[in-house]
Amino acid sequence: DGDVFKYYCEGEWKKSASGKSVAIINPTTRKTQYKVQACTQEEVNKVMEIAKAAQKSWAKTPLWKRAELLHKAAAILKEHKAPIAECLVKEIAKPAKDAVTEVVRSGDLISYTAEEGVRILGEGKFLVSDSFPGNERTKYCLTSKQNTDRNSHFIHVPGVQIPLGVILAIPPFNYPVNLAVSKIGPALIAGNSLVLKPPTQGAVAALHMVHCFHLAGFPKGLISCVTGKGSEIGDFLTMHPGVNCISFTGGDTGVAISKKAGMVPLQMELGGKDACIVLEDADLDLAAGNIVKGGFSYSGQRCTAVKVVLVMESVADTLVEKIKAKVAKLTVGPPEDNCDITPVVSESSANFIEGLVMDAKQKDATFCQPYKREGNLIWPLLLDNVRPDMRIAWEEPFGPVLPVIHINSVEEGIHHCNASNFGLQYALRLINSTQLQGCVFTKDINKAILISDAMETGTVQINSAPARGPDHFPFQGLKDSGIGSQGITNSINMMTKVKTTVINLP
Ligand code: G3P
Repeated sequence: DGDVFKYYCEGEWKKSASGKSVAIINPTTRKTQYKVQACTQEEVNKVMEIAKAAQKSWAKTPLWKRAELLHKAAAILKEHKAPIAECLVKEIAKPAKDAVTEVVRSGDLISYTAEEGVRILGEGKFLVSDSFPGNERTKYCLTSKQNTDRNSHFIHVPGVQIPLGVILAIPPFNYPVNLAVSKIGPALIAGNSLVLKPPTQGAVAALHMVHCFHLAGFPKGLISCVTGKGSEIGDFLTMHPGVNCISFTGGDTGVAISKKAGMVPLQMELGGKDACIVLEDADLDLAAGNIVKGGFSYSGQRCTAVKVVLVMESVADTLVEKIKAKVAKLTVGPPEDNCDITPVVSESSANFIEGLVMDAKQKDATFCQPYKREGNLIWPLLLDNVRPDMRIAWEEPFGPVLPVIHINSVEEGIHHCNASNFGLQYALRLINSTQLQGCVFTKDINKAILISDAMETGTVQINSAPARGPDHFPFQGLKDSGIGSQGITNSINMMTKVKTTVINLP
């Protein structure tokens, strides 16, 4: 069936026995762009069974060989950047240039993962018992990060950090390729197999990415990709007894998954009401530039987007003027034209954003631009004088709408951050009289660090907008924003389990 993209199982592209498909609506045209298979629960069972079997021999594959295949996949992915980026433009309305960047960044992420895996999984530890009170030197404890395989000539230290088994990866629509490979790479280098459930918007880009792994020559069944309706296979996948770890990025669904998942390690990256505090002595141009970039890139559809600006009253008007001037320069239109602001991912998303805007209007927020919407396209909007009784002060629009709240003390700003259920990542602007790029706040760094410590959030950026990258940095959310920590090294470690062997001496 040439019209419906096949799913990937046992190293082959297959049609679902359901005979049904799921439509992917182009956010710009609002017409069906692609269709993918609506997989059945039986097909999920089959994928799980195959993934379990494939993992057993993969875990015995030497580390350097795993790395070699990942490097190959990274190179093929980069070669395919144009067609994959085109899918991203059509499926999620990502601006054309950013779509290419996502694919290239993903190739780099896979290569780095291969290199990092070889280093950290290749190390071991040796402990002796007499360092702990009451013990003689009668026990040796050996821990390494590689499987012992006594049946082959690759004999490793007989204490291991073993793979978890089958990893279920569920990335979100905003980075269907990058946030898939950030799970796939660590899973595979650590000796796991992987089942991918891509988001519906972005599924074809993800299938194309999986094809690059296929071309690289990974063993059959090691990677699978099932597509379909969440209502049919969503819970079935996340509650499947064959799953040994879930790595999820997305919205509230993650909270539901964490409640239903059994005794398996979870890695969760959910939303966040990422705040940006601007102090009186901040570099307001730097702040404004970062706020616009942080708040409006990919039309605000990033979990690390600046979602609320908390600015000291004395500089608020100046800052707002500067932001306004920069917002006026943002181009608005289709992703094919590389516009800064493109249609948001779905009509329901646009309606939700509009609801927040209307609530703010009713409650007298200051509209710095007129509200304008055509279909899923929403013009960038800065809302000034937002107060805590407005929904936009707390809720995450995931769209090009940015609220500004005036504060009279740093404590008030910190209080607003910490009162949020989310704790993902807050940007902190501070003071800079010297305006030296990257080190402008030296004089006040102590203050910056004190505020950073006070903010209940996974990461605080000093003088820059929140951002996940570089992709080897630890990345984590607190409270409802996540479980565990990501970043290449953390993900590799998270997808393994320590096992030790103790040698007892007579
Ligand atoms: O929304 C997903 C999150 O991981 C954002 O990544 O690179 O845009 O900061 P980034």
